[in-house]
Amino acid sequence: MFNNFLNKFSKKIGIDLGTANTVICLQDKGIIIREPSIVAVNNRLDQIIAVGEEARKMVGKTPAYITLVYPLVNGVISDFEVTEKMLKYFFDKIFQENFNFTARPSVIIGIPLDLTEVEKKAVEDAALGAGAGKVFLVDEIMASAIGARLPVQDASGSMLISLGGGKTEIAVISLHGVVLWKSLKVAGEELSKNIVQYARDNFNLLIGEKIAETIKMKIGSSHEQTEQLTVEMRGRDLISGLPREIIINDYQVREALSDSIASIVDAIKSVLEITPPELVADIYERGIVLCGGGAQLKGIDQTIAKETEIPVRIADDPTTCSIRGINLLLDDEKLLKEVLLPSANDEKVVR
Ligand SMILES: Nc1ncnc2c1ncn2[C@@H]1O[C@H](COP(=O)(O)OP(=O)(O)O)[C@@H](O)[C@H]1O
Ligand SMILES: [Mg+2]
Repeated sequence: MFNNFLNKFSKKIGIDLGTANTVICLQDKGIIIREPSIVAVNNRLDQIIAVGEEARKMVGKTPAYITLVYPLVNGVISDFEVTEKMLKYFFDKIFQENFNFTARPSVIIGIPLDLTEVEKKAVEDAALGAGAGKVFLVDEIMASAIGARLPVQDASGSMLISLGGGKTEIAVISLHGVVLWKSLKVAGEELSKNIVQYARDNFNLLIGEKIAETIKMKIGSSHEQTEQLTVEMRGRDLISGLPREIIINDYQVREALSDSIASIVDAIKSVLEITPPELVADIYERGIVLCGGGAQLKGIDQTIAKETEIPVRIADDPTTCSIRGINLLLDDEKLLKEVLLPSANDEKVVR
């Protein structure tokens, strides 16, 4: 199976199939696609009318005949057909722009830690259906560790926390393997929902999730900041039914996010509690590393450092750690062999 990867006539593509964003890289070119994982479907014609950023612009604004599909939920394919079509759309775009021959590409995809065999097979089959010749699966968190240049090959523990859209993954990595991990569904999307709920409970204001996400990015934090931040929040007054705008500040947003942040911190502590002492010593020395879009929440590094009493740093360019790791794997077969996951399509030999 592995020999196929050596095929120099087939192009190599890497995919980070995220709940919020799909990022794709091409060997020798680096990142070439970075789009929200959203597809707009015309129900009348059963046709895709927009993918990615174009579809995201339609959020909350679609007439009845258009459905916006989020094909991944909490890192898992929830709509197989649309995922396959979305990948095909991206593959076609890459093919048009980059090559004029038809050899099917070899594809490396990063997947969450807690996928079942059936869910893994869905990822592989979606990529094959979209036009991939061969599919290689790796743990996304391992790819992120490679992208963040952690010493994954060493007999030394690193703790990496990926704060994505639909999933938070906490992993301890040593010797090319994930020693311990925990995954929870409390992540970026849940934080945005917390703000929607807060506005409803405290101001009787109904706001959209996209607006909540913007507020989170602008003034959201988990730890007190030096300057007070405010932003206007527009929505519909649930009592009068009319549009209303209020000013919300960072303290209030922090309050809205506090339960979710506490769940994330508890999960990190629970992993540390069962981590063997030698590895804890390594993690302490190296510090916990954060990646994923949620690592950009203001103060999240301070909160985790304070709660765990371990130094924390945010990886450089945290949203692209996993795709940069996958991009390195496209050129490094030796490392790929070390971290490759078994294919869900391999025949199982029963003796
Ligand atoms: N500045 C920011 N502050 C807080 N959250 C952010 C910020 N930037 C992005 N995010 C969140 O990061 C999440 C997307 O992260 P990403 O790693 O791309 O997710 P995934 O891999 O699941 O697609 C979204 O929920 C988004 O709201
Ligand atoms: Mg991701």
